Amino acid sequence: MRKKEPDIIRTIIPPYHRLAPYYDQLMDYIDYDIWVEDILNFIRDDGAVKTLLDASCGTASMAIRFARAGLRVSGVDISPEMIGEARKKVDAAGLTDEIALVVGDMRDIQFPEPFDLIINLHDGLNYLPDPGAVHDFFQHAYDLLRPEGWLIADVVTPLLCENHFKGYREIFADETGGYERVTDYDSHTRMASTIFTFEDSPTALQLEEHLQRAYDLDEVKAMCKASPFKKFQIVDDEDFRPADGSSERFYVILRKA
Ligand SMILES: C[S@@+](CC[C@H](N)C(=O)[O-])C[C@H]1O[C@@H](n2cnc3c(N)ncnc32)[C@H](O)[C@@H]1O
Repeated sequence: MRKKEPDIIRTIIPPYHRLAPYYDQLMDYIDYDIWVEDILNFIRDDGAVKTLLDASCGTASMAIRFARAGLRVSGVDISPEMIGEARKKVDAAGLTDEIALVVGDMRDIQFPEPFDLIINLHDGLNYLPDPGAVHDFFQHAYDLLRPEGWLIADVVTPLLCENHFKGYREIFADETGGYERVTDYDSHTRMASTIFTFEDSPTALQLEEHLQRAYDLDEVKAMCKASPFKKFQIVDDEDFRPADGSSERFYVILRKA
């Protein structure tokens, strides 16, 4: 008689709970220096920018670069594990006093002083599940900015997800075990689901699901128009021409009038 297969226990854990220590390795292909250069270029005519809030700062890769560029930086992220990794990096960089880090939701976190610039980069907006949540974030960012302050975000479009996230699978192994990643994109709901599976033993798995909503140009334009920001620009992230249907990812640059 065949032996009964052992039951596998699958535990669902919150986004970044296990992934946080791997995040920088996962993002190894990203040139953060270029992103910082892009942002500094967008605001180059505004010499009054001295303070920055990195909304959804992750492990502080951008925050550290902006602090080195001379800005006073605060970072907020909803994941305590990502803020934990950010703290280690900020301390190791000798920037403990220059960068304030806090766990919180970028849609309602409060700060005592207004900011000159708020950034929300590398899919931060796509983690917001619907246009209503993006609207709440735009409204809150507006309230946190000084007059003439800037909000700069990037957006992953349905085109990028169609091209790269239909049935994507990757295995990362290291001495602590690593993970399996499976990403799939549903063109109908425009939701990309990524499940990272961590195997603690052959019968105990931890599953970390990340849900991201892709937004197209018309949706983002409508969200900008519905926001209190009266000036905005949406440009392709590769060549900065006005974004169009062929843009896989774009920058949204909003200014508080
Ligand atoms: C793909 S990571 C980007 C991190 C960082 N900006 C970077 O460029 O490396 C997305 C981040 O958004 C954070 N996040 C998602 N929803 C959030 C929210 N409502 N408020 C604050 N952070 C949030 C996640 O915890 C995660 O660290």
